[in-house]
Amino acid sequence: MSVTGAVDWDQWLRRWDAQQTVYLPDRESRFDAMLDVVQALLPETLVALDLASGPGSLSQRLLRRLPKARCIAVDLDPVLLAMGRAVLGNFGRRLAWVEADLRDRAWAERLGVREVDAVLTTTALHWLEPDDVRALCTTLAQLVRPGGVVLNGDHLAFPLHLPTLQQAARTLKGRRLEERRTAPGAEDWDQWWAAIEAVPALRELCAERKRRFAWREKNDTPPPLELYEQALADAGFREVGVIWQNMDNRVLMAVR
Ligand SMILES: C[S@@+](CC[C@H](N)C(=O)[O-])C[C@H]1O[C@@H](n2cnc3c(N)ncnc32)[C@H](O)[C@@H]1O
Repeated sequence: MSVTGAVDWDQWLRRWDAQQTVYLPDRESRFDAMLDVVQALLPETLVALDLASGPGSLSQRLLRRLPKARCIAVDLDPVLLAMGRAVLGNFGRRLAWVEADLRDRAWAERLGVREVDAVLTTTALHWLEPDDVRALCTTLAQLVRPGGVVLNGDHLAFPLHLPTLQQAARTLKGRRLEERRTAPGAEDWDQWWAAIEAVPALRELCAERKRRFAWREKNDTPPPLELYEQALADAGFREVGVIWQNMDNRVLMAVR
């Protein structure tokens, strides 16, 4: 789908990053932790997937930091993909964009590669149901080469037998979010989407987005950490553990 009319995509990407930071004040530290691991463990010519990339904030940081790396950004959202393509383009032929639904069991066939060194994903996999998470991990185990890694940055809840830790994470997250959301000039998810949906040139693309995500039921409760640990271990990843954490905001790492 092409977008006509003048859209200031750079401005929308800056606003996207600011909006995401309202929810994740330590978003850049979490990106850094993931990239530190990639840089420490993998060759500088690595090929990475940015899974559920949105407009490619993580791809951009990875390609800036690692000038010989290549990245494939995968997402289903036509608005965010259009933004990423417009602002980042192919990043000197090092970045490819793939439109795919991660719930589709055959999504990896769209990638154009059969193996990658790393899969990175941020603030996204909680959109998927447990069965889709398990199927996704099985696909990732086929895609990531031996010695390669998966890094998932997301809110992943404490287990049920730690109710006080769960409660502390929920209370602090809510309190801090309210402070940032009400700060002067702050924009949250709903406000950002309402603003972009009001751009006449993007009306059709935004309607297409709504059709594609009609299945989604918004749920603010983070999925349990064990779901991902178990799914990755069952899929064949040999080491699975948290490498960065702030309350229940974590980076879960798995080694193939
Ligand atoms: C909160 S955004 C995070 C985007 C990006 N990773 C970031 O950190 O800025 C969640 C992303 O997950 C994507 N997503 C959710 N479900 C998906 C699915 N089934 N297939 C592909 N992408 C999906 C959305 O389109 C959206 O871009």
